[in-house]
Amino acid sequence: MTDSGTVRVTLVGATGRMGREVARLLGAKPDIKLVSAIASPSSPALGKKLREAGVCDLDLEVQSPLALPEAARNSDAIISFTKPQAELANLTAISEQNIPLVIGTTGFTEEQMRTLKESVKNSPVVYSSNFSIGANLLFHLTHELALLPEEFEFSIIEEHHSGKSDSPSGTAKRLSEILMEERGYTKIVSGRSGDSRRRPDELEVFSVRAGGIAGRHSVIAAGQHEMITIGHDAFTRAAFAGGVLSATRWVVGRGPGFYTMKDVLGLK
Ligand SMILES: NC(=O)c1ccc[n+]([C@@H]2O[C@H](COP(=O)([O-])OP(=O)(O)OC[C@H]3O[C@@H](n4cnc5c(N)ncnc54)[C@H](OP(=O)(O)O)[C@@H]3O)[C@@H](O)[C@H]2O)c1
Repeated sequence: MTDSGTVRVTLVGATGRMGREVARLLGAKPDIKLVSAIASPSSPALGKKLREAGVCDLDLEVQSPLALPEAARNSDAIISFTKPQAELANLTAISEQNIPLVIGTTGFTEEQMRTLKESVKNSPVVYSSNFSIGANLLFHLTHELALLPEEFEFSIIEEHHSGKSDSPSGTAKRLSEILMEERGYTKIVSGRSGDSRRRPDELEVFSVRAGGIAGRHSVIAAGQHEMITIGHDAFTRAAFAGGVLSATRWVVGRGPGFYTMKDVLGLK
């Protein structure tokens, strides 16, 4: 941290949709400063300033992941929104530095997530499939909804922009985990056609990919005579970026551990 208490941040995935949103927000905050910006090894933005690459009003050069170890040495925290395979390679390269991390990438397989946790086990890490405050309240409320009588059947619908590569979304996966744990579902059904009646062990998780939807999640609990729907809509990626900055302020100075937004927000 600088003498004035400013948190210095390296942003990995700075040229991506989430990276741009985080970079823009960082530029507007006096207590957190973007000091390094990293993109993929083949990014057309490499060597350009963030301003030239149309990311934000900063003259920081966009660098390849080869610059990450040095960038980490000069930072207080790393924020990363990339791809699962990229996270594993990048985080392994800096694992010995034990630097605080805020990771928002989704789409990890169980095996990849185990590898990631192992490589960052000596760092304080905030990992969340969704950094928005509203979505974290949705997780919380889903636990409450799961207390409904047994006759109620649950379904999850998630909607995202057509450029999203992983499905279901990380947020829908988290909602599924909660419902599988609390309601005893053992199987996920991600689509239906033809003769496909619902069985008691099935949890429906449906994905829609259309246009520019930033992120919408709904949890439906339907009984025979009534239903409840709870949901969350992110209008823009700024909904996630605000939570990312809160997580960054929170994680600096913590002991090693794999934390979630529940910890950052103080939700029980
Ligand atoms: N947790 C949350 O709240 C939240 C919210 C939204 C999205 N997400 C997730 O965040 C991830 C990124 O989403 P996005 O929409 O921003 O994707 P995106 O637009 O495709 O951006 C991906 C970024 O990663 C960079 N990248 C790719 N490989 C890299 C590597 N090896 N090293 C360093 N950087 C690399 C890309 O660089 P170049 O393109 O310049 O080559 C680009 O800047 C996805 O997994 C998405 O699901 C999470």
